[in-house]
Amino acid sequence: MEIHTDYLVIGSGLAGLTFALTAAEHGSVTVLTKRAPEDANSSWAQGGIAGVMGSDDTLELHMQDTLVAGAGLCHLDAVNVLVTEGPQRILDLIELGAHFNTTLSNDGEQVLSLGREGGHSRNRIVHTADYTGLECEQTLLHAVHSHANITILEHLYVTDLVVSDVEGVRRCTGASAKGYAEGEPVTVTARATLLATGGCGQVYQYTTNPAVATGDGVAMAWRAGAPIANMEFIQFHPTTLHHAKARAFLITEALRGEGGILRHADGEAFMTKYHPLKDLAPRDIVARAIVSEMKLRNCDCVYLDATHISKEVLADHFPTISQKCAEVGIDITRDPIPIVPAQHYQCGGVVTGLNAETLIAGLYAAGEVACTGVHGANRLASNSLLEAMVFGRRAALHAVDHGADCHIGLSSMKIEGHIERPLMPDEEAVAAQQCVQRIMNRSAGIVRSTSDMEAALHKVEALLDGFTGRQLSASACEARNAITVATLILKSALKRHESRGLHYTLDYPERSEGEPSDTVLVPLPVQQARK
Ligand code: SIN
Repeated sequence: MEIHTDYLVIGSGLAGLTFALTAAEHGSVTVLTKRAPEDANSSWAQGGIAGVMGSDDTLELHMQDTLVAGAGLCHLDAVNVLVTEGPQRILDLIELGAHFNTTLSNDGEQVLSLGREGGHSRNRIVHTADYTGLECEQTLLHAVHSHANITILEHLYVTDLVVSDVEGVRRCTGASAKGYAEGEPVTVTARATLLATGGCGQVYQYTTNPAVATGDGVAMAWRAGAPIANMEFIQFHPTTLHHAKARAFLITEALRGEGGILRHADGEAFMTKYHPLKDLAPRDIVARAIVSEMKLRNCDCVYLDATHISKEVLADHFPTISQKCAEVGIDITRDPIPIVPAQHYQCGGVVTGLNAETLIAGLYAAGEVACTGVHGANRLASNSLLEAMVFGRRAALHAVDHGADCHIGLSSMKIEGHIERPLMPDEEAVAAQQCVQRIMNRSAGIVRSTSDMEAALHKVEALLDGFTGRQLSASACEARNAITVATLILKSALKRHESRGLHYTLDYPERSEGEPSDTVLVPLPVQQARK
């Protein structure tokens, strides 16, 4: 089956939905999502959206905090766009009906209640208790469902982008997709395609991400010939629940913003040893401190103590966490919460410009899948929903303006026909992915070494080879994507001969001197074409 649309969006999180609502004012939009629309990474974001909304705050301060967290690798122009356009994107959400927490100002007015998270020098986190992502997602989905120009096709997974070289220009003209049941594949052709597929948590054994986060966008862009950057910068969230029944459930940083303290089982608070901002130091520092304390004490978790925070505040601001912990027998008003770090966010991704454009004409990427340069070597807390909306909108505006250019190639596209291949059994694909998850946890985690990563890359590449030339079901496609992304993380990490931000290696424990640079991986056929 073939579907023609003006704008194709792959993924239904905040970046994809923001793009869809903007582009829909100018043409038809088709959103493809591999599960239900709200099954997106965005829905799981707890903390909030960082934005300069308070009278004591300035764009310069938000910029400065973002740059400090990014450890010298942020792109100044991209950060400037992020913080400058961010507040208006938050106001757009409010106009669409999002309910954020408010408080009474000194003048008796209801104003946004602004929270604090690690690395922020001001209170600037706009939030809805501890389910901000879900509130934003549902608000945007409601608007999308009411828009006549937008069609959401759910439970369709994209197998690959459709790209070809037309008059020397690599161009994307849509994507091939399949339903989960037996049936005809679907090809969607579009004048512009947005990758908004989120992150890659399922590359690791323990992650705060949902099951859909299998790195599809990065893997598909890589196969299509797009350069990928900074994949070594995988953010580990310092505080995820350590419990057999709820492994890696996120305990938002906002709880530390409210006064939560990291302690050992005997009550010793240890962050004073590591950073002047103590429990609110940047995430990479807190995560490494926890790993180091766990090694020193030979224990398998530390504790986040919120017992001194008022019961009302805990119930009001952290209902999701209170409930999740209660389900496993932890009363957060009385018991310190056992926590460990777990994979949380991919700071690198598909290389994009200031309008979320990739190096493939007609292809855009926004949100976690993209490397816009705003996060550098470490993302500042709560900058991710902001980035998704700012760059999702910019992508749409650019695609609308340049749609005609991208349309030129459409009629000359050859869509690859169906080729019979031996089927890879799902069990084999899933076992390969699980093996890679364990390898990545051991070798590409918070503390790394060259020899470990080299051995890991060797094993992961061998597992990826097992997918070549075989027909793949949906879960096998996801496994192949996750394993592809694992190779990119390892290759990027091996190329960086220093420790910076989220990449810490025992072989190069210091930051290198001089101007730092991004790690850019270029797919082979493109490299050859450029020679
Ligand atoms: C959190 O709530 O701690 C996560 C927020 C984020 O990842 O920015």
